[in-house]
Amino acid sequence: MKIWIVGKRGLLGSALLTLCEKRKIPFVATSSSQVDIISSEAILNFVERERPTHIINCAAYTAVDLAEKEKERAFAVNAHGAENLARVARDFSSRLIHLSTNYVFDGKSRTPYQEEDVAHPLSVYGMSKWEGEKRVTAMLPQACVIRTSWLFGEGGKNFVSSLLHVLKTEKIVRAATDQRGRITSAKDLAEAILSLLSAEGVFHFANQGALSRYEIARAIDEAAKKKGISVKTEQILPALASDFIAPAARPDMSVLATDKIEKQLPIRSWEPAFEEYLDALS
Ligand SMILES: NC(=O)c1ccc[n+]([C@@H]2O[C@H](COP(=O)([O-])OP(=O)(O)OC[C@H]3O[C@@H](n4cnc5c(N)ncnc54)[C@H](OP(=O)(O)O)[C@@H]3O)[C@@H](O)[C@H]2O)c1
Repeated sequence: MKIWIVGKRGLLGSALLTLCEKRKIPFVATSSSQVDIISSEAILNFVERERPTHIINCAAYTAVDLAEKEKERAFAVNAHGAENLARVARDFSSRLIHLSTNYVFDGKSRTPYQEEDVAHPLSVYGMSKWEGEKRVTAMLPQACVIRTSWLFGEGGKNFVSSLLHVLKTEKIVRAATDQRGRITSAKDLAEAILSLLSAEGVFHFANQGALSRYEIARAIDEAAKKKGISVKTEQILPALASDFIAPAARPDMSVLATDKIEKQLPIRSWEPAFEEYLDALS
């Protein structure tokens, strides 16, 4: 076995790299400057040389708001790039695990999203990721697609670290009560990916427990104070998502159902995963 981690410098890619190192799993890992997935030629050259048995696509254009202005770039990476990887996986008989997002859904459902629910993205980012999923599965029906939501981890800036920064600097913080989702530890997701190396089809993965952005802010505040992390915030006020102006629309109901993946592996609650993350930060 030889895994190719595509997007080694990202939040998930770096967690996966650390896990493969820890478990002594043979792997090669690349950044965008080593292999740009927009280039089918660069991918082909790399695969001819390295012959990975498994390709894990952690690379993506993830700037949700900027994507509204950079549609072409978002589609080039998230749709065309993903398709390039699927083609090479098909031609070299490698297994492909492709990552996607809850942003393929519009968030109007009243119940958690199942894998087979109809996609209806609201943003350019969501559309480009949905197009990537469709192209990957058309090219390689045996591919495994894992959708996740609200990632946090040590490997880079994420919405939990951004919120923590706000709590460290602002006296009053407002957070939306009407946008709910499941936060996901990049480390836990990396573990799940390694358990799904032979899986086919679409899976959802997120830590247990749905939270609003407001509840997440309160949880971070509480946990940070308990850990002795200096927080400046005196008040966290409930707000509506519509109070915040952002170029890209976000789904209100982002909760992914994970029953399917849980038939193969247990998923822990967000709390211990979150505590571990804060321990690593402090
Ligand atoms: N973050 C979240 O909250 C979240 C939520 C749901 C789903 N997801 C999905 O989970 C996956 C991992 O996300 P993440 O948060 O770990 O992403 P990330 O931290 O933004 O990292 C993405 C990586 O993609 C690489 N990349 C971008 N364009 C590339 C190109 N043309 N060729 C090769 N590599 C390229 C970048 O590499 P360089 O740094 O080398 O340029 C970057 O390190 C993505 O599929 C994302 O859509 C993320």
